[in-house]
Amino acid sequence: MVDDGQRLLSSVVASQLDTHSKYGGVVPELASREHLRAIVPVVRQALQDAATTFEDLDAVAVTSGPGLVGSLLVGVTYAKALCFAGSLPLIAVNHVEGHIHAVILEERQQSRDVAFPALALVVSGGHTHLFEVPAIGSYRLLGKTRDDAAGEAYDKVAKLLGFGYPGGPVLDRLAPSGDPRAVKFTLARMKGNELDFSFSGLKTAVLRWVEGHNLADEIAQRRELQRAHPAPSIEQWLIATPQATRDLIASFQRTVIEELLRRALASADEIGAESIIVSGGVACNAGLRAATNRYPGYRFLFPSFSLSTDNAAMIAAAAFPKLERGEFAGFDLRAQANLVLA
Ligand code: KG4
Ligand code: ZN
Repeated sequence: MVDDGQRLLSSVVASQLDTHSKYGGVVPELASREHLRAIVPVVRQALQDAATTFEDLDAVAVTSGPGLVGSLLVGVTYAKALCFAGSLPLIAVNHVEGHIHAVILEERQQSRDVAFPALALVVSGGHTHLFEVPAIGSYRLLGKTRDDAAGEAYDKVAKLLGFGYPGGPVLDRLAPSGDPRAVKFTLARMKGNELDFSFSGLKTAVLRWVEGHNLADEIAQRRELQRAHPAPSIEQWLIATPQATRDLIASFQRTVIEELLRRALASADEIGAESIIVSGGVACNAGLRAATNRYPGYRFLFPSFSLSTDNAAMIAAAAFPKLERGEFAGFDLRAQANLVLA
């Protein structure tokens, strides 16, 4: 919940990681079922944590897309029902716009305003997008991934190496134990829009490296570790990860960060950005956060960890400008798997 001063009142997240990690990735059917199970208690908890009641609400915001349509439908249908019951306005929010607002919300919390024009780099399991943000609520797409999203590349490489799902956090924590220059990966050259990203070549290069090194035993050992412990500690992963593989992970991470920052800085220069917003699950990456310190001439803004990954508070924050403008959705609002932000 967010109040009209755009302060965070509560943030409740129902994690589904335990459910999906058994399968090595998100299973859409299970995701919708878990959403259905969680939505009522989560909303109740959010009201309780904010010391408010349903009667205090001015509006209900909901993600209408993009994402898995079954999960989106649960949220959209429930939000409509809440609005119908309480005669409240319904506000539809694009998930990606929500990620950008996680940063704007937290800056406001500290009585600061984001300086515009801003560049937004949204990096998650589903997105690797660069937007020019001339002002709040206005977005122009500058570049995006042509294949895998950055988080997806982390998840696929982690899976290939026998780590659990999601892969980003584990690889990020193992990367400092390896030599980031040990394995040389070529950076993606983009024909056409040079601000677009591509991670499939890097993923294939990791696969070739794995095929060229005899990793079957260590991968089996890590899969076994994952089976025995639902959430192995970093020490356990380290024991199960020989130096050559740590070097591979460090080199992979260095390459992803380089790909992200290279285009973010080029776009920031192109639009004369006053700030660079980095958001989405991959914004949790410690290596990425540290690498931005090499560019003190740019003002990078990251959300706190809990608001980097998916959460509802960022959706409420993104809804406020729409509430002020009276930009409401009707009860014919549909979940849109491929909703674009522009
Ligand atoms: O934004 P998010 O919670 O969900 C989507 O909208 O996709 O992002 C989840 C993604 C996953 O792919 C996960 O592996 C990645 O964010 N991620 C990370 C880190 N923490 C989460 N990737 C790299 N380093 C991290 N520390
Ligand atoms: Zn997300």
